[in-house]
Amino acid sequence: MFMHLEVYYYAFILMRFILCISSQIFLVWFALFQAYLIYSSSVAAGAQSGIEECKYQFAWDRWNCPERALQLSTHSGLRSANRETAFFHAISSAGVMYTLTRNCSLGDFDNCGCDDTRNGQRGGQGWLWGGCSDNNGFGEAISKQFVDALETGQDSRAAMNLHNNEVGRKAVKGTMQRTCKCHGVSGSCTTQTCWLQLPEFREVGNYLKEKYHRAVKVDLLRGAGNSAASRGAIAETFSSISRKELVHLEDSPDYCLENRTLGLPGTEGRECLRKGKNLSKWEKRSCKRLCGECGLAVEERRAETVSSCNCKFHWCCAVKCEQCRKIVTKYYCVKRTKQVKTDSASRRRSYRLKKKH
Ligand SMILES: *[C@@H]1O[C@H](CO)[C@@H](O)[C@H](O)[C@H]1NC(C)=O
Ligand SMILES: *[C@@H]1O[C@H](CO)[C@@H](O)[C@H](O)[C@H]1NC(C)=O
Ligand SMILES: *[C@@H]1O[C@H](CO)[C@@H](O)[C@H](O)[C@H]1NC(C)=O
Repeated sequence: MFMHLEVYYYAFILMRFILCISSQIFLVWFALFQAYLIYSSSVAAGAQSGIEECKYQFAWDRWNCPERALQLSTHSGLRSANRETAFFHAISSAGVMYTLTRNCSLGDFDNCGCDDTRNGQRGGQGWLWGGCSDNNGFGEAISKQFVDALETGQDSRAAMNLHNNEVGRKAVKGTMQRTCKCHGVSGSCTTQTCWLQLPEFREVGNYLKEKYHRAVKVDLLRGAGNSAASRGAIAETFSSISRKELVHLEDSPDYCLENRTLGLPGTEGRECLRKGKNLSKWEKRSCKRLCGECGLAVEERRAETVSSCNCKFHWCCAVKCEQCRKIVTKYYCVKRTKQVKTDSASRRRSYRLKKKH
């Protein structure tokens, strides 16, 4: 009788122990899964804003951030390692860090808020740290976990991608702006408190576009095996390059031409800009760059647009508008007609001799 009770007792203890352990495992697993869920929507939104910024920055370049090519270059054996790949990695990781940081400041996550670690300390002549600084440390750490985890290899391409991811995060950090508030009798500004604020994401895009033009080419592809020695050489090479400079290993292909294997559409059919009130130099040259220098002709297309205009408010309560017709002229790159073709071919050769990227 007593024997039985003892057995039941130990069985009961054992059961409790097992339940406790498994619920602990469950809780840990659940917490990780929840963390993943909490951040993953933000990470996805950040990556998307990176792609959109890439499309904006390259709208009038021969390479215009084509999605198909990006898919191929990140998910297949055709991993490219050129200047454009470098920019894409940097802007994507910057987008993820930016969105996470912004989400954090907006109070979207329970476990993070403003960075007030320096508040009260002297920042410089006449100002103290104060207020709500955007928490870039948080954004940096989480985006690193998500974005860098995609690089599983140990070769020079993986090293290049990791380096450029870091350049993107440094770009977010480096473009943050100090914003200040005056204190003192009737705004006399005897002291100021300042905090760091994220800029518009456009600023980060502009900054990285400049870095793109000055990207550093590293010659590591030849003889880069997977031996410890070559991994050492890769690590050494990359550690000698500033984390502010984009790095690439290969030259870019000719983006004038369609290449289906690489998912590149070529510039035929692209729109370009000619006349407009406020075009930058880069935009003004777009027809030359996309069409002329690629052996294509520029075609002018006129289209009529109809829109509401001269709207008047009638008491009460209707708005009456007129229909206005406007002719808009747009320019597109098209194949040259046969007669001009020889001309274009020779132009193309002379362009190649000039060897621009
Ligand atoms: C973070 O911000 C992005 C875009 O601003 C938004 O789409 C996303 O839902 C936010 N994430 C959370 C967890 O609120
Ligand atoms: C497309 O790119 C691949 C890889 O660079 C190259 O081998 C191939 O010749 C290209 N195809 C065309 C049609 O240019
Ligand atoms: C046109 O360019 C000027 C000077 O760069 C700028 O100040 C202005 O805001 C621009 N206007 C538009 C409509 O973009």
